[in-house]
Amino acid sequence: MRFSPRTAWLRTVGKQLGHPSGPLGAVVARVLNRGNRGPIAAAIAELELTGTETVADVGFGGGIGLDLLLAGLGGGLVHGVDPSTAMIERARKAHASALTAGRLTLHEGTMEQLPFGDGALDGWITLNTVYFAPDLAAAAHGLRRVLTPTGRGVVGIADPDWMGRQAFTQHGFRLRPVDDIIAALEVAGLEVERRTFDDPRATEPFNLLVCRVASRTG
Ligand SMILES: C[S@@+](CC[C@H](N)C(=O)[O-])C[C@H]1O[C@@H](n2cnc3c(N)ncnc32)[C@H](O)[C@@H]1O
Repeated sequence: MRFSPRTAWLRTVGKQLGHPSGPLGAVVARVLNRGNRGPIAAAIAELELTGTETVADVGFGGGIGLDLLLAGLGGGLVHGVDPSTAMIERARKAHASALTAGRLTLHEGTMEQLPFGDGALDGWITLNTVYFAPDLAAAAHGLRRVLTPTGRGVVGIADPDWMGRQAFTQHGFRLRPVDDIIAALEVAGLEVERRTFDDPRATEPFNLLVCRVASRTG
């Protein structure tokens, strides 16, 4: 690829989206929170929480998902998982009272190696993250492993063709077909229902893959 200031900038944007860090990471976190609130709220609605569950936002980035989960769970527990130290530190500052109250726990980690025991979670969401997971099968198995037999999870991904037309996705993104992601989740033992969210920023709807533990493995 020919080097140019534009290429360098796009590479920086791609890298920041996959692993926000430093002063630019703080900007990226704010942009993510503003732009992704809608699909994240829609994903949380798909969990159909009653208020007492133990749930996680895997790859929480700017942390708007943590805010919404904490607001929706009166008596439940929220976990945030992200490999970015900067995003963990940001969430630590933003949610000091929830951390002190024991309503929120933060973990530096990845979806491939989730820091939870088997069946520990009633629900999880993970949006705009699988683009950065090098091993999709390991990620899917991890997400399945931590879910209770009656739990639900939601994987959120933008339309891969639309994503492929965005210049920044040429840098550090793995744009897999939605069917490949569904297949990996099914192989891991999840039943998947594909829903969509009309994202005003994109020409194609955002995908919400609603996962339940498959009855044959239940
Ligand atoms: C584009 S941001 C999305 C943040 C948030 N989920 C949202 O939709 O606004 C991607 C986030 O995924 C995290 N991430 C990267 N690789 C990951 C992995 N293997 N497992 C979990 N999270 C990952 C990054 O650190 C970053 O915070």
